[in-house]
Amino acid sequence: MQKLTAVQNEDFNQPKGIQRARRLPDPTLGALWNSIILDERLKAQLLSQAMLNFTMRGKVDRSVIPLHGVILLVGPPGTGKTSLARGLAHRTAETFPSGGFRLLEVEPHALTSSAMGKTQRAVSELFSQSIAEAAAAGPTIVLLDEVETLAADRSKMSLEANPIDIHRATDAVLVQLDALAERHPNLLFLATSNFPQAVDAAFTSRCDLVVHVPLPDREACGLILKDCLTGLGKTYPAIAKLPSSQSFDRCAAECVGLDGRAIRKMVANALASSPQTAMNPERVTIEDLFGAARAAKAGRMSGGKAS
Ligand SMILES: Nc1ncnc2c1ncn2[C@@H]1O[C@H](COP(=O)(O)OP(=O)(O)OP(=O)(O)O)[C@@H](O)[C@H]1O
Ligand SMILES: [Mg+2]
Repeated sequence: MQKLTAVQNEDFNQPKGIQRARRLPDPTLGALWNSIILDERLKAQLLSQAMLNFTMRGKVDRSVIPLHGVILLVGPPGTGKTSLARGLAHRTAETFPSGGFRLLEVEPHALTSSAMGKTQRAVSELFSQSIAEAAAAGPTIVLLDEVETLAADRSKMSLEANPIDIHRATDAVLVQLDALAERHPNLLFLATSNFPQAVDAAFTSRCDLVVHVPLPDREACGLILKDCLTGLGKTYPAIAKLPSSQSFDRCAAECVGLDGRAIRKMVANALASSPQTAMNPERVTIEDLFGAARAAKAGRMSGGKAS
């Protein structure tokens, strides 16, 4: 029985709070980076800031530039923040021929607990032991997804509604970030949040760069839609022809207001626009896509979840 558990869970020996650890570079993450349609200047800014972390930080005193090694991506759900963070980890590692980079992914919900003092202890252990050990072994990038869970805004907490434990967890994150910043210049945190207003101001202040990842504009909507249809075209060749249809631009315009995840899901909805199309997805038409985009937006406006 024990053996079975170990075989089923490849991460069984990972410390609490680390959902996944992998060596970088990892080409699958490179494909992820390329699949996210975003202003190339923003992508370049992210990559340059991440690179600087590993070139300059170890050489310049923190009294000159107090870098903490934290980049925060904020923006609406489904805009590609987590994908970008993973891709950025890969692209950063790829630029250093010395190698040895690792990516640790933190699962914040695994750290929180209603038991008094437990969250704070779990956070402190994760940062001061697991992450510090990894950083001592080689260049390390840590993905802190949904960081508002760990670094919740203390000023907005009522002590009745929120256990004091969460307050202490935020304190612990800040203390640990300061300690790690002093000792480990080859450590970079990539944090994401949908709720920047829920992230503690002292955490945001420690970020070396905060990047807002926006909803795609009309041009980006068209590129995401095209990327999705071209991808489907590998399995269903007729679908690859849709982007060259006359009405494609109108269809892309109908997607404005949807996030990247919702656009890709909307395409799936179009493939399911009738049982016949579901049976044979090559039957999907631009009109099906148009209708699905309109329905996704209507669902969103009426408060329904479109993604
Ligand atoms: N700008 C984009 N270009 C292409 N694809 C996108 C874009 N934004 C999102 N997607 C697609 O949407 C999916 C969700 O992306 P991801 O999980 O990275 O978003 P997120 O911002 O982290 O969402 P959440 O805030 O809900 O965690 C991915 O499959 C991704 O391919
Ligand atoms: Mg995410």
